[in-house]
Amino acid sequence: MCGIIGILGKEAVADDLVDALRRLEYRGYDSAGIATVDSGRLDRRRAEGKLKNLQKVLNTQPLAGLTGIGHTRWATHGAPTEQNAHPHATSEVSVVHNGIIENFQSLRASLEARGVRFDSQTDTEVIAHLITEELHSLGNPIKAVAAALKQFEGAFALAIIFSGYDNMMIGAKKGSPLAIGHGDGEAYLGSDAIALAPFTNEITYLEDGDWVVLTRENMIIRDMDGTVVQRERQVVDVSTMAIDKGEYRHFMDKEIHEQPDVISDTLSGYVNFTTGKVQFEEMPFSFKDLPKITISACGTAYYAGLVAKYWFERYARIPVEIDVASEFRYREAPMEKGGLMMVISQSGETADTLAALKYCKQQGQHIGAIVNVRTSNMAKEADVVWPTMAGTEIGVASTKAFTCQLTVLACLAIQAGRERGTISEELEKELVHALLEIPREISTFLKDESQFEELANSLSKARDVMYLGRGLSFPLAMEGALKLKEISYIHAEGYAAGELKHGPIALIDEKVPVIVVAPKDYLFEKTLSNVQEVASRGAKIVMITDAQNVDVGNEPLAVIQMPSLHDFVTPLLYAIPIQLISYYTAVQMGTDVDQPRNLAKSVTVE
Ligand code: AGP
Repeated sequence: MCGIIGILGKEAVADDLVDALRRLEYRGYDSAGIATVDSGRLDRRRAEGKLKNLQKVLNTQPLAGLTGIGHTRWATHGAPTEQNAHPHATSEVSVVHNGIIENFQSLRASLEARGVRFDSQTDTEVIAHLITEELHSLGNPIKAVAAALKQFEGAFALAIIFSGYDNMMIGAKKGSPLAIGHGDGEAYLGSDAIALAPFTNEITYLEDGDWVVLTRENMIIRDMDGTVVQRERQVVDVSTMAIDKGEYRHFMDKEIHEQPDVISDTLSGYVNFTTGKVQFEEMPFSFKDLPKITISACGTAYYAGLVAKYWFERYARIPVEIDVASEFRYREAPMEKGGLMMVISQSGETADTLAALKYCKQQGQHIGAIVNVRTSNMAKEADVVWPTMAGTEIGVASTKAFTCQLTVLACLAIQAGRERGTISEELEKELVHALLEIPREISTFLKDESQFEELANSLSKARDVMYLGRGLSFPLAMEGALKLKEISYIHAEGYAAGELKHGPIALIDEKVPVIVVAPKDYLFEKTLSNVQEVASRGAKIVMITDAQNVDVGNEPLAVIQMPSLHDFVTPLLYAIPIQLISYYTAVQMGTDVDQPRNLAKSVTVE
């Protein structure tokens, strides 16, 4: 996901722009740039790769000016080169953009027919030229932007500056997040409050369709029809937006270790510690009346939903359909009105999940959103929001957000069971008690990570890794494979253990480590027989289990000994070893753990 910053400053802005971009690095990017208005003239500096390359350019060719914009680009159209880096500009207009202009090809063709020459392959350059053309015909930058915005299809968050105007910046939002920051004689635009935190905690979030004309003294927000609209100016808690690693080497390591605290924080939002029962604010529906729950999400959030499917079906006896959002949004699934659609998303901005939400809204579903960012688009669109209290998650590989999602989902499954009369009061207290033990269990488990360094030595030499699990551990196997491949770049597959004999077992030989998520639950013996099938074919087995003295048929590569737990909560604790396996292997591989190649923290484009 690209990052945007804009500053109307009282002093030179170049250094502040780059500092703000550093706070947006976690979103993932592969080039960066800034532009300023200096004595009425637009100028820019851009560089491929990380911000240190942009800083090098600025060290030799500094940019002056009190008005400026900046951008970190995650390439969608055109390679991650300097030429395609933002800002894109003409001599009169400079723009940075997060999103995709879906009709940019036709707009580009009509501009080229009018003699406009393009320097890049990006959709964003079309924005700069179109606004410039409108400026030439309308003579006023505000009218030019109003006319241009009407012609764009797709998603955009924009920050735009103009030659000759050093006290004006225009922002626009449709589908991608954009916030206004209010300073003392200064004003800002940013992709999120994290980027703006060093400057201000007074934020105004733009809604879809809004665009704002910003000066150091005031702001005028209009909708797409040009009608002036009011948006709430709020004070945000920037204390949770610390983006330093503390004593940790990587954000991912820090966030793995924050899990006991943030799971406790999340539990405190949904459990009454006095009664030992879950408690939720009034919901716009009753679980008793729901014909079905539909869950849609992407990546790790999807695997959290997959765990929840087992919980809702087993404890609340309610049918659950789940699908990855990129498929669900186009499936045109028939839906009985009055069902519950749950979206799960750390960022609350993932384009596919947002589209799935909007489809279900049209289908008359109640919409519940489990998000980590309460000001996100999904939170705004939902009928009810169940926030996770994970705090800002910087590492691209989701860890604490995942276990906090599981925490909320577990509480919801208990609530649903109570309302549907499918769990007794004592079972509810038993399940809640098991949940309340998890922060301590994770803290204890994290006291000794030495086995993961050694295991990483072996795994880092593998070309392919297989993850297996059954029941509640099947989604964990999928999540483990995703974690491993997304940060170590080793090919890994997660499979239902019972499925192995239907084909994938052909992949197994002595070069393929097989990691088995196997709590000693009602499916353990069946999983063990699958393990013996692969061990007998030479596979190097890694067991993650609370069973003692497990015989897998030959010398296992490792046995990660887990404490015995209530079956209900095993996914929350077993998430920790699979996170550590991926982390230590990636460190061995020397990859960029926090910002793995090609990935963005949140994918706000299709
Ligand atoms: C997980 O480690 C990845 N970063 C990715 O799969 C992520 O979970 C997915 O893109 C969904 O993001 P969201 O939770 O912000 O919607």
